[in-house]
Amino acid sequence: MTQDTLNLIRPDDWHIHFRDGDMLKTVVPATASVFRRAIVMPNLVPPVTTAAAARAYRQRILDACPPGSNFQPLMTAYLTETLDPDDLAAGHAAGDLTAVKLYPAGATTNSDAGVRDIRKVDATLKRMAEIGMPLLVHGEVTDPAIDIFDREAVFIERVLKPLMDRLPDLKIVLEHITTRQAVDYVATAGDHLAATITPHHMEINRTDIFRGGIRPHLYCLPIAKREEHRQAVRAAAVSGNPRFFLGTDSAPHPVHAKEAACGCAGIYNAPGALSVYAGMFEADGALDKLEGFASLNGPKFYGLPVNEEKVTLRKTGWTVPDVVTTGGDPILPYHAGETLPWAVV
Ligand code: DOR
Ligand code: ZN
Repeated sequence: MTQDTLNLIRPDDWHIHFRDGDMLKTVVPATASVFRRAIVMPNLVPPVTTAAAARAYRQRILDACPPGSNFQPLMTAYLTETLDPDDLAAGHAAGDLTAVKLYPAGATTNSDAGVRDIRKVDATLKRMAEIGMPLLVHGEVTDPAIDIFDREAVFIERVLKPLMDRLPDLKIVLEHITTRQAVDYVATAGDHLAATITPHHMEINRTDIFRGGIRPHLYCLPIAKREEHRQAVRAAAVSGNPRFFLGTDSAPHPVHAKEAACGCAGIYNAPGALSVYAGMFEADGALDKLEGFASLNGPKFYGLPVNEEKVTLRKTGWTVPDVVTTGGDPILPYHAGETLPWAVV
């Protein structure tokens, strides 16, 4: 018998970009109406680097939630070589900062203020390990000599493994993994390391970016890899292994910034994210593993309670909007205009 209703503990999104201003007001409702909590990335211009800035940003997000929403943004600080460990620790204790995000400088959108020399932040990371504050990692090296498709695998060898050896008590989330190397390492590195997996990295490979022409809306960082890597990431997501959990990396950019001579990285997948995940878990015969991935594994790793509410999906079909408009600018959602099998009720 095929299943046509899914009741899940309401999921959380452990990796989201909300931006600010008009864009924030436009994109927050898509996430807040489906997810109970989300880890909000701090790569604004200027980045969120203090507990006070995170508190103010959280309030702007709450102001953009639909009336009656109980959505809870979990805030992060952007790791720089000059961040104040006392401010981080106080923000963490007060509940204003859940985690800290490491962007290697130059690795991706708005990462210029990021870390150039990881050894310069060791004292901050040591403090985080002591207080149980997780480090969220954009795991790509920025060495221009390293091929863009190898940057994640090289990061694991050059940066992540030595870091875990130096600070074995630090909790780390390797964000938006894209390679077999990441899957294998996360599966074997012990219970202080976990990974988020996006819908697009479960679904597309690098050939899809060039299907019939260049498709800028499928360009994100880390860039999609060869098919064998997509299969490894997908298998990890649907495996039921608690080290892997849902993080969309929904990263909206206006169409003019994507369809440009030098287009920016990021896929806006928030509108259909849960439907896309559900379709893939079903296709892989793993619908029974979706709740773990979407609603249980993340809170367990972060040491947070599991949500009490439920969400229902029905197999009635749901069409992703063709376009979302913000401040007069169009944004193209992932799977724009396509009908997905599962609708969030
Ligand atoms: O594709 C991406 N877009 N990857 C990132 O790491 C950042 C994000 C963004 O902020 O646009
Ligand atoms: Zn991201």
